[in-house]
Order: sequence, then structure tokens, then C-alpha cells
Amino acid sequence: MNTPQLIDPFARAITYLRVSVTDRCDFRCVYCMSENMTFLPKKELLTLEELDRMCSAFIGLGVEKLRITGGEPLVRREIMTFFRGMTRHLESGALQELTLTTNGSQLARFADDLYAAGVRRVNVSLDTLDEEKFARVTRWGRLPQVLKGIDAAQKAGLRVKLNAVALKGFNEEELFSLTEWCAGRDIDLTWIEVMPMGDLGNEDRVGQYWPVSEIQAQLAQRYRVTELAHKTGGPARYVRLEETGQQIGFITPLTHNFCESCNRVRLTCTGQLYMCLGQEDMMDLRAPLRSSESDAPLVEAIHKAIGLKPKGHDFDYSRQRADGQVSRHMSHTGG
Ligand code: GTP
Ligand code: 5AD
Ligand code: SF4
Repeated sequence: MNTPQLIDPFARAITYLRVSVTDRCDFRCVYCMSENMTFLPKKELLTLEELDRMCSAFIGLGVEKLRITGGEPLVRREIMTFFRGMTRHLESGALQELTLTTNGSQLARFADDLYAAGVRRVNVSLDTLDEEKFARVTRWGRLPQVLKGIDAAQKAGLRVKLNAVALKGFNEEELFSLTEWCAGRDIDLTWIEVMPMGDLGNEDRVGQYWPVSEIQAQLAQRYRVTELAHKTGGPARYVRLEETGQQIGFITPLTHNFCESCNRVRLTCTGQLYMCLGQEDMMDLRAPLRSSESDAPLVEAIHKAIGLKPKGHDFDYSRQRADGQVSRHMSHTGG
């Protein structure tokens, strides 16, 4: 194991890097993108070799967990080459976990290759099991394709976690059916409170907001719910449903702030490092990367960036409006 070398001004060790490898996606989820997105020209993107160099530099500085995100990471061309490149860091023991967050649409194609590269868990974003509602929320997605992807992932030996964005008036009535569907398939489930990311112009964040505290209260009407103390290094809190034995996670940026234990930073596909999901601060790492064959300028820039990591986000709906909103879309930093 590496010794953490990236310590931020609030004494938090940064050991988790989330890397968005593309801003493109084959879906257009209503809370994430507008229907007509303009994507970055390909030449702006870090090449696969540059992504490898960037991640390897972070691993050299004590990053132990790498999560690949997007947009949809599996629509980036030749992305398996990058995953296979990271396998060497798992084999050396420097990297503890290589994983991804995906919409599931391409999993049927890639599940075996991901497993072979050393991936053992995937997080799949899925908010509803109703075909018509799925088509509505993703605009371009088809549910059967995602379900096929989930099957393929499980068959390949990957542990699957579903991330459902909790949306009032949308998936409220699916609380129990989603829970039972996951229990029946031995899939983990995490609910995420909708965050004010990206000004999509058409949304009503406060109206959409279904607080996790309500979800928990509703679950308690049907199940015996035990709060669990354990953390996975992510922001989720967990409960166990005694009747099914399953664990349910909650990511509650709005009702419970978990920033004090934040261990992560986010790299965009153009090489900008965002020090917090909920703030605008960022540092360009592409220029220092490209400025020299040596990693010295890059490492210096990374240290400088970590020294600027803010204390936390300012998301807040308590005044009946979406305060603390950040202007970039979730697809920019991959959640
Ligand atoms: P594991 O705990 O390893 O399963 O991963 P994770 O929950 O960190 O990753 P995942 O991609 O599943 O995260 C789910 C969503 O939680 C993200 O897409 C974000 O929407 C949200 N999230 C993750 N990390 C943070 C964070 O640091 N701050 C905030 N506000 N939200 C976060
Ligand atoms: N609020 C909360 N979660 C969001 N996601 C995308 N946009 C938002 C938002 N505004 C989630 C996706 C996926 C992860 C990458 O982020 O559903 O699970
Ligand atoms: Fe694509 Fe994920 Fe954004 Fe949906 S939430 S548009 S699947 S990146």
C-alpha cells in the first residue's frame, strides 16, 4: 500500500480519484443533461495515454481507489485499453480498487473484459424499473438493454450496485418494488438525493426533492430497519433491512452533510481537477502534463490543487429554492 501524500487543508487524506473519460453519453437523463448537449471536440480530450499517465501519477501519490465515470465511460472508444493499463497498478498492490459508474447500456459488451482487467464492482445508475418511465427520464435509453447489461455483469462475476436518484412524484411508488427486485438479485441499492447541478432551465429541483429521511421512514413502515455504523469510504450511510438481510445506502448531500470525511477529487476528460463536486474551484492539469515528459510539473500542480480543496458544498433547499447550485452539468465531473 502507498502512504497517502495528498493531505488537504482540513487534514483529509485524498486517496480516491474519480476520472471522467468522456463527456458523451448515449442517454440524456433529465437531471443530468439537456436534450441538445454540445459535446467537446475530440482534440480537447486527454488521450488514453495521457489518462494513463495522469492516473498513474495520482496512484504514485497515494491514490488507492480509481472510479471511472463519464458521461458514459463505456462509450469512449478503446476504453478497455485504458482499463487494461490500470491492471498493472492492481497487480503491484498500489491500487486497491478499480471500478466504474455506468448507465449499464454497454455492459453486455464489456462485462467480461472489465472483470479480466481486475474490476470487481460496478455501480449502475437506474432510477426505475418501468419501461415507459425509464424512457422518459433517460430520454434516449431503453430499459431492456440495461437489464441485459446488469445480467451480463453478474454473470461475469461483478458485484452490482444500483444508484437511484430519488425523485418526488417519479420513483416514489417504486420504493418497495425496487428494493425487492434488488434483494431478489443480490444487488446493492443506494438512493441519492437530487443535487442542483447544471442549469437545465426546465427543472424544479426543490419540487423534485424527495428527502432520504422520508425514504427511510417509509422503509420502516414495512421492514425492521437497523442503522449500520460501517462506511465504505464513500459518502453513503447504510441501513440493513432485517427481513431481507439487504443493505440499503443513502447519499444525502442535502439532509446530511458528509463533507468532513471527503477523500476524493475529480478529474474531467479534459484534464481539469475539480476539488469538490459542489464548488467551482478547479485546477488545469493538462498543461503541466503536456509541458514535460517528466511528471514533476504535474505532481507539483496536483499538490497545489489539493492545497485548495474547499471544506464542502453549499447545496441547500431549505429556503425553498436550490441554493448552492453549481453551473456545470453532472456529466462534466461524473457525479
Ligand atoms: P462507492 O461507495 O465506492 O460505491 O462509490 P460512490 O457512492 O462514491 O460512487 P458512485 O459513483 O456510485 O456515487 C454515486 C453518486 O453519489 C455520485 O454520482 C454523486 O452523485 C454522489 N456523490 C459521490 N461522491 C460525492 C461527494 O463527494 N459529494 C457529493 N455531494 N455527492 C457525491
Ligand atoms: N443529482 C443527483 N444525482 C445525479 N446524477 C446525475 N445527475 C444528478 C443530480 N442532479 C447521478 C446519476 C448517476 C451518478 C453519476 O450521478 O444518476 O448515478
Ligand atoms: Fe448519461 Fe449518467 Fe448523465 Fe444519464 S446521468 S445522461 S446516463 S451521464
